[in-house]
Formats: sequence, structure tokens, C-alpha cells
Amino acid sequence: MLQAKAYFDTHHHVGVIDQRIFSGFLEHLGRAVYEGVYDPESPLSDEQGFRRDVLEALRAMRMPLVRYPGGNFVSCYDWTDGIGPREQRPVRVDYAWKSRETNQFGTDEFMAWCQETGIAPMMAVNLGTGTPKEASALLEYCNLPGGTYWADRRIQNGHEQPYDVRLWCLGNEMDGDWQAGHVPAEVYAQRAKAAAIIMKGLDASIETVACGSSGRGMSTYLHWDRTVLEYCWENIDYISAHRYSENRRGDSAWFLAEGVEIDRVVEDYAALLNYVRGVKRSQKRVYLSFDEWNVWYKNMEMDGKGESAPHLLEEVYNLEDALVCAQYLSSFIRHADVVKVACLAQIVNVIAPLLTKRDGLLVQSIYYPIVSFAQHARGLSLVPALECPTYKAGERGDVAALDAAMSYDEASGTVAAFLVNREQRQEMRVVLSLGDQRFCEVLSVEVLGGGDAKAANTWEEPKRVTPRSAEAHVNEAGELIVTVPAPGLAVVRARVS
Ligand code: AHR
Repeated sequence: MLQAKAYFDTHHHVGVIDQRIFSGFLEHLGRAVYEGVYDPESPLSDEQGFRRDVLEALRAMRMPLVRYPGGNFVSCYDWTDGIGPREQRPVRVDYAWKSRETNQFGTDEFMAWCQETGIAPMMAVNLGTGTPKEASALLEYCNLPGGTYWADRRIQNGHEQPYDVRLWCLGNEMDGDWQAGHVPAEVYAQRAKAAAIIMKGLDASIETVACGSSGRGMSTYLHWDRTVLEYCWENIDYISAHRYSENRRGDSAWFLAEGVEIDRVVEDYAALLNYVRGVKRSQKRVYLSFDEWNVWYKNMEMDGKGESAPHLLEEVYNLEDALVCAQYLSSFIRHADVVKVACLAQIVNVIAPLLTKRDGLLVQSIYYPIVSFAQHARGLSLVPALECPTYKAGERGDVAALDAAMSYDEASGTVAAFLVNREQRQEMRVVLSLGDQRFCEVLSVEVLGGGDAKAANTWEEPKRVTPRSAEAHVNEAGELIVTVPAPGLAVVRARVS
């Protein structure tokens, strides 16, 4: 058995964990909207056509925000197609995913769905083929009380109260040449700034997210971001980061160390944000919105062939994918001073923890760590110091076998530890030590994993990867000892004093 020790101190922290790091993303793509959240023909849907089982599963995930309507989709989307009487809405070709968009689900349906789930909307505007003026019309439709054209249109459509959308993404992945309306960084920065000025002029309480570059593998990485940040610093509140992980080498040891790379991306952004703030001599802070992240193998059909709700990107997730998702969340917690928003991409049917069929729901492996983190990570993010063995992580070299994060909720005097054992053969005995306090009572221990890293939940065998309760104990020195499966995750809650 591997032996590891993780030291924390409740005074050594990076600030309060923003619960918005547990947000999600819903795009008009494949069966995410139609047959995912909205399926009037399903016996499992309510009177608005919303899938009840999906709603319930998402409630357990405690998502504070869901980003909508894209994604690549948004860069060619005319939001006015999706409002008003349903029978009058146009059917369009969706440029991004080559599908047929019926527009039966649009802004008002999304807002109704948000109200039903208790989730707040995070809206993305089209800055690809759309203009800042069209983007501000959507803001007017959503947030202004009435007495102006678009706000009155909302009221005519039966929605008297404004939706009060706080968070607005200024386009999506505009650095990517796959994006409709893709432009160089300088041009995007001008568009984004114009949109932010008009939109904040209409509603000063909103926050804006500028597009960052769309991944560390891109030649635009950080250059694009620097240009946008320098030009838009005073007009934006967040820069976005996107990352999709995959075990492309077919090497689980390598893949299970993905947290190293995730940390690197977040730390790159932290450094860039500090740098630009310094150059601008600004008092203002801009934070990171990691508004697309997940495991995505990208070896599936991406062309909807003109169909409505085609089966696209319906990934099947296994245990190692779930452990990589856990490492995303641990990284966001460890960088709570930088990452204020993060969206799991996506929530249902498309690269998602949930898969639907007309009369059933499959809960995938990645669902469980996300629920567990969102339920228990509260309060301050404590900084870990690890003493642990390394293991051979393929081309990544020797990597720490333990990935750890801890939250401390001062009000209740409790901590939650999130521990991933990246090693596949040996369980890990982890001793948790608090420099300034003692563990006094173990409240719960939940573990996921052990055994086959490729184990997945399927319609035939839906419970193969599910969490189970386990034990932990406190020793005489007030340290907590827990065993983490190989490979696996342990989430431990304890009272401290
Ligand atoms: O989430 C799937 C796609 O990934 C999104 O549409 C796009 O923003 C990203 O490239």
C-alpha cells in the first residue's frame, strides 16, 4: 500500500471557493436540448416538456449557473428566431453542427427551465456573425423592465418580469477558425469591448466574460488572451478558458496525471492576469471563467447531416474519466483566488454525465465526483503540502501519485478533503494533518473506484461505477487516516477544532 501525508493549515488558504465553479453548459448541439432537457414526447417530461429525471439529476449536482446557448452554435445563431409563438418560429440550418434547428426551444424556454431547476442563466451572445447591437438587444429583452422595444417584446411573449441575467459571455472561442465569424484577436477585442460598453450601459449590474483562446494546444494560446485583456481590461470581468481532456495515447498512467496539465493552464492564466494588471496599473481584477471543461474523445460523428436532434458526441465515460473530472475540480478549488466560474461541458447527452432515452436516464461515471465536490466543497480553499510517492506517468515523467484539495467551512467547523489516487495498482493510505487544529470527528467518507480504470456504466450495467461509503479514523495526534482506492477518489468530511 502507498503511504502519503497531506498537510494543511486553516490560516493558509487562497480565499473562498466560488460555488459557481460547479456550473454547467447547455448548447444547441445533438440531443442536448431536444431529447435532453426538452422532450415533450417523453412520458418522463412535465407539462412544459422538460425532462423531470434530468431536472432531478441536475438538482443533485447543485449547479449555480448553466451557460447557454453555445458553444460553436452561438456564433451563427439569431436569438430572435427562438422567441414568440412557437408555430411562427423559423426552422434553420445550424451551421456549427450541420443540423436542423427547429427553434422550439429558445431564450424564454431556457429561462423557464432555469426557473424550474433553480439554476441561474449564463448567456452567451453571438459575436461571430452577430453584432454588438444585436447582442445588446438580447440583453434588453432579458433584463430591462419594459417601455422599450425588446423589453416590451418579452412582455408581449408572456414574460412580464425581467430575467435578470447577471453573467454574459461575449461570443465563443472566437480565436478558432472553425468558428463562424472568426477574426484576429485585435478585431475580436474591439467587438467585445463595444459589446461590453453597450451592454453594461444598458444594465450596469451585469458581468462580462471575454473569449480567451480555446486551449493550450492552440497557437493563439495566451497571445490572443493578452491582446484581448490589454484592450478590454476595464470592460470585462472574466476571461474564458476551455479545455477538453482525452486519453489519446491509450495510456491510463499518463491520463490519470492530467491534473498536472490542468494546474498548468490555470497557473498560466493566473500569471497572465497578474501581468496585464501590472502593465495597466489597474486596481481592477479580472478573473478566470473556465466555462468549458470535460473529457472528450473527439472521435465521434460531429456532422448532424441536416437532422434535428442527431446523435452527436454521446461519449461513454469510464472510471479514469471520472478521476480526471475530479482533478479538474480539485484544481479549480486550489486556485479559488483565480477561478470564479467553471462550466462542465456539457450537461446532458452531449459529452455529458447524463444520457437519455425516451423512457430512461443513464447516470455516467463522471456524474459522481461532480455531485460530491459540489455538495461538500464549502468555504475557504486550504493550500496542500504533500509528502507522497511518485509514479511513472508515461511522457509526463514522475508525477505525485496523490492529488489533493481541501475546503474549510469556518462557520460549521468542518473540512472536506478531495483525494485522488492516480496510481492504478496500489491503494493509498493518506494521513491528513492540520497544522493549527485537530480532526475530532469523521462525518462521512465516500469512495469511488478501485479496479478497472476502463469500467463504465452502460444501459445494460448502469451501476458499475458508483460511489460507496467507507471508513476513516482519527489518531491520537488528531490526524485523519483514510484509504483511497487504486485508482480512485475519496471524499472525506470531518469536524475539526
Ligand atoms: O462543447 C462542444 C464544443 O466545444 C463547443 O461548441 C465549443 O465551444 C467547443 O469547441
